[in-house]
Amino acid sequence: MKLSINNKLQAQLDEVAEIAGYLWEKGWAERNAGNISINVSEFIGDENRNLSAQSKYPLPRNMKELAGDFFFVTGTGKRMRDVAKCPLSNGSIVRVSQDGDSYDVISEENVKPTSELASHFSILASFKKKGSNNRLVLHTHPTDLIAMSHIPELKNEKALNELLWGMHPETFIVVPRGIGLVPYEVPGTLAIADLTLPTLDRHDIVIWEKHGVFAVGENLTDTFDLIDTLSKSAQIYAFARTCGYTPEGLTKEQIQGLIEPFGIKL
Ligand code: 13P
Ligand code: ZN
Repeated sequence: MKLSINNKLQAQLDEVAEIAGYLWEKGWAERNAGNISINVSEFIGDENRNLSAQSKYPLPRNMKELAGDFFFVTGTGKRMRDVAKCPLSNGSIVRVSQDGDSYDVISEENVKPTSELASHFSILASFKKKGSNNRLVLHTHPTDLIAMSHIPELKNEKALNELLWGMHPETFIVVPRGIGLVPYEVPGTLAIADLTLPTLDRHDIVIWEKHGVFAVGENLTDTFDLIDTLSKSAQIYAFARTCGYTPEGLTKEQIQGLIEPFGIKL
């Protein structure tokens, strides 16, 4: 039996393709950079629940919170520009085992999931345990935000967020919880997942120092928008600096003045 794709699952795959295309167009996805995991359990359909495994992989730690859940996960080494053309040739549908110790690839093309799966699933398991609605992870390499994580004076969440919020009012409106900073760690490890997790209590997006951003959410388009909005602020800052000026930025009062008219909940 092969995976059958109903309208809801197809709509989710279409959204993945659209956003993967944007990641490439933005210049955030050189070669195989970036990865996406989305819980698609609600779209999977009874006909797909017991499909046989094409491959089985151990999870690096028990993730019983995700037991029996289904995910779309981009493939390791796959290019976002190719995910944009065909998500299921460059990613897989996977099912977490009932004991939470392993997962099966159940989609036909049997693409090996991203090397960052440990961090994606650890974080999604933790959200599920807390009752959060966050069901997806988007990791990408935005040049401007990565550049900011190389600047010693900005290795401080308060300074970094004040600077980014100050560059444009929409940045505070769209990302009022700001961006978190996670110190450098080896990609693909549980260590990077464990460093990221507490930061996501305060933020929906973090910078992995000198590597990329890691954002979580309920909806892929909205999650992309968080990154895109912060990237715009980083570009305004860099543009002014390139012209030889230090940008003035909005004042703290101007930023605080957005809370009431935009109903921002902190
Ligand atoms: P994968 O190709 O394994 O998804 O890795 C890409 C990446 O960005 C690693 O940090
Ligand atoms: Zn990366």
